[in-house]
Amino acid sequence: MFWNRIFATKTLEMLDAEAKGENRLKRILGPVGLTSLGVGAIIGAGIFVMTGRVAANDAGPGVLLSYAVAGFACALAAFCYSEFASMAPVAGSAYTYAYATMGELFAWIIGWDLILEYAMAAATVASVWANYLNELLKVLGIPPVPEYLCSDPFSTPGAIMNLPAVLILMACTSVLVIGIRESAASNTALVVLKLAVVIFVIVVGVGYVSSSNWFDIPSEGRKLPQQGIIPGLASEHAQKEAGIAKDAVADRAKTLTKQALATFIVALADKPEHKDSEHWKKMRKEYEGTLPSDDKDKAAVKAILLIADEKAPHVVLEKWGMVGNLGINKTLEKIDDATRSNFLPYGFSGVMLGAALVFFAFIGFDSISTHSEEAINPQRDVPIGILASLGVCTILYIAVSAVITGMVPYYDIDVKAAISSAFTAEGKRTSSPLLNAAGGLIAAGALAGMTSVLLITFLSQSRIFLAMARDGLMPQRIFGAVHEKFQTPHVSTMVTGTLMSIVAAFTPIAVLEEMVNIGTLFAFVVVCAAVLILRIKRPDAHRPFRCPAVYIVAPVGILVNLTLMFFLPAETWFRLAIWLAIGLCIYFAFGYHYSVMRQAKPND
Ligand code: ALA
Repeated sequence: MFWNRIFATKTLEMLDAEAKGENRLKRILGPVGLTSLGVGAIIGAGIFVMTGRVAANDAGPGVLLSYAVAGFACALAAFCYSEFASMAPVAGSAYTYAYATMGELFAWIIGWDLILEYAMAAATVASVWANYLNELLKVLGIPPVPEYLCSDPFSTPGAIMNLPAVLILMACTSVLVIGIRESAASNTALVVLKLAVVIFVIVVGVGYVSSSNWFDIPSEGRKLPQQGIIPGLASEHAQKEAGIAKDAVADRAKTLTKQALATFIVALADKPEHKDSEHWKKMRKEYEGTLPSDDKDKAAVKAILLIADEKAPHVVLEKWGMVGNLGINKTLEKIDDATRSNFLPYGFSGVMLGAALVFFAFIGFDSISTHSEEAINPQRDVPIGILASLGVCTILYIAVSAVITGMVPYYDIDVKAAISSAFTAEGKRTSSPLLNAAGGLIAAGALAGMTSVLLITFLSQSRIFLAMARDGLMPQRIFGAVHEKFQTPHVSTMVTGTLMSIVAAFTPIAVLEEMVNIGTLFAFVVVCAAVLILRIKRPDAHRPFRCPAVYIVAPVGILVNLTLMFFLPAETWFRLAIWLAIGLCIYFAFGYHYSVMRQAKPND
């Protein structure tokens, strides 16, 4: 009985009846509206930030291939989403699909997991928003928001909170409560603006690409693990150093970071085997002016580098993610050595690790499926919207990453605001007013792009909560309540907005991103599995859109998305497990008792 209850499935006929029932959302979105919604949800923080980070730290120019791999993983899931969305055009997306195939408990797990994809993604994008705000203020000659109000306290010593993130989330919450919602005009305006900026980056940037940045930087020029940990060690050292006032710690940490990095790079440049390399001569010249000069600084840098060397092997292992924990890295290291080249300085695993991270940039195409209930002709238009928006974004992403890694040597890319910094730096170098102005334009486009991601992601989250509340798995009074005048799920939006603001204010971005990625990858695995299960269980069902070669696409989709999950750190897996365990406790405390399906069949 217990098992029957928790594995009870909704039938396709029930979903069909729901789609036609009362209190449904208005069907107002056509194929262009849906595609624009998809692009609105997809292009945001990922392309503007992740490209730089992955190129600089993980994949070098091979970030292009990372985008291709992540796009491929998403395309496989997108075909499966499309089949489902055409069969069951009700709000709820993967949550609803799981309810129809795997039963209530799995549906709950996926619904709970999707909070990571939507609400947490909104928190992540809001945190990144602050970096681009400062970039824009800099270009406009306005003093930027001080660093202590622009970062979480864990990533930057002395920081209090990420205030711009809170403010933008509050603004989005208000907009969504009042109900401007995804009015076609405002979404289209934001989408047009960000597409214009992305195309501008490609068209103008291509003129400044030097292919030597792709092919001529020796692979030894890649960032070594020590370079990644030096900033953290420098800030620890600065905090402990005697005679440093509390408000001077951040500056001291910056100075020590620069000096330690310079010492590390100059030591590499001085290695006998690098003596004749043009690259290393250039690096030495660039960094020798930053070497520590007084004894106190020299001693501090020496201590930092000593610990960095000690910690480096552990960092390498951590970088492998779960793959390292399972010991598969030994095999992959051999593949890396065989595939390493100037274009792929970090080898095969760098591309894969990069794919697991840039995957974030693709998140959002599935939000179209949360809007199926508002599509005029969902059977035809939702698949078109999903596949078209994903296709457009993949092409743009590959082009942008090619331009950025072609404009700036990958190790020099600004990891906080890669695209606008690349243009501003080129502007300074060439004294070109166009490029200087471009930095501002790009920052403005990025802010617009991220704002549309925030709005749509938030909307999608409220759609999923609404679907769960209708099924009785979430409190109806909070998540199902609709404002009388504004006709929006106001309580749900305010609760989500407040929680997300707290998360965005105080949580390190890297932790958030990885949680979002693992949560979404997990949802994609489930959707691919669900589509297969339904093909087997209900081969007769009417499928307006059929996933092509489903017996290949769905299993490969499961495999590729799972593989990307394995490149994420073990802690992220652990956090996912804790998140899901909390979700299970909530299900058994609430949804299990109040499920509408249960109440319909109380004796089951
Ligand atoms: N794909 C969205 C972004 O990159 C989440 O901002």
